[in-house]
Amino acid sequence: MTRRIVVVGSINMDLVTQAPRFPQPGETLLGDGFVTVPGGKGANQAVAAARLGAEVALVGALGRDAFGDQLQAGLLGEGVDLQHVQRLDDQASGTASITVAAGENQIVVVPAANAGVTPAHVEAAHAALARADAVLVQMEIPLEAIEATLRLGQRLGVPVILNPAPARPLPTDWLTLARYLTPNQHELAVLLGADPAEDFRALMRRAPTPVVLTRGSEGAWYREHGEPAHQPSFAVEVVDSTGAGDTFNAALAVFLHEGLATAVRKACAAAALSVTRLGAQQGMPRARELDAFLAR
Ligand code: RIB
Repeated sequence: MTRRIVVVGSINMDLVTQAPRFPQPGETLLGDGFVTVPGGKGANQAVAAARLGAEVALVGALGRDAFGDQLQAGLLGEGVDLQHVQRLDDQASGTASITVAAGENQIVVVPAANAGVTPAHVEAAHAALARADAVLVQMEIPLEAIEATLRLGQRLGVPVILNPAPARPLPTDWLTLARYLTPNQHELAVLLGADPAEDFRALMRRAPTPVVLTRGSEGAWYREHGEPAHQPSFAVEVVDSTGAGDTFNAALAVFLHEGLATAVRKACAAAALSVTRLGAQQGMPRARELDAFLAR
């Protein structure tokens, strides 16, 4: 059965520079290449979920500019429902300036139109959320809109996966409204106001909500109750890790009905495939590619 996913989040144009290494402050380097590709955590998660076969609606905002036109066309081409993506007058679309060196990245996001996503905007998507099997929300939109998503999901009885990236502290009662938190270690420490050096398993046990914690090349850990369990990563050649977390979250939401352990395994596999190409969305797998990869 087709899964229905709603994503509430950011839409950015990614300005990606490939460099031999990251420059030091004040240093100028000659780069190896430059591409402009669609991104933004919300849009990335929407595209990844759609490629995995879900019916996806995105709640977000674009500026009325050339980037906005390109991003809108790209999302429509992926089959994402944009009924709840507003075009804001006198606003630029969000951008992310990304430097990629040796498979790692550094990112500066300018939210622009993404800062215009409001609780009213989320409430207007009430009917879409009510029909959803799962809702995904990240933290590149205003906190009030994140809170509205969590509260609406709770009211409707729809599981909300909160991907707390980029990390900001949040009130504990908001965290308990989420079905799962999907941070990395640093993000979980920020969420809990803890020392990032603290053992991540201890942090997971202290979280007020079940946690699925991503560890990059070390895979993922997940905990519903009791002790955290581990899912190792899949070995691939890393070209660009941008969007790996977004692919992971989307797959987790799409396959959640198969049970948490299976969903985390599939999420790790989908994330592995996503890092084999440059750009956040380029490497995101379709359902049949994921199946073939897992069968190997
Ligand atoms: O998660 C990756 C995304 O973070 C990039 O596409 C960029 O737009 C930033 O939002």
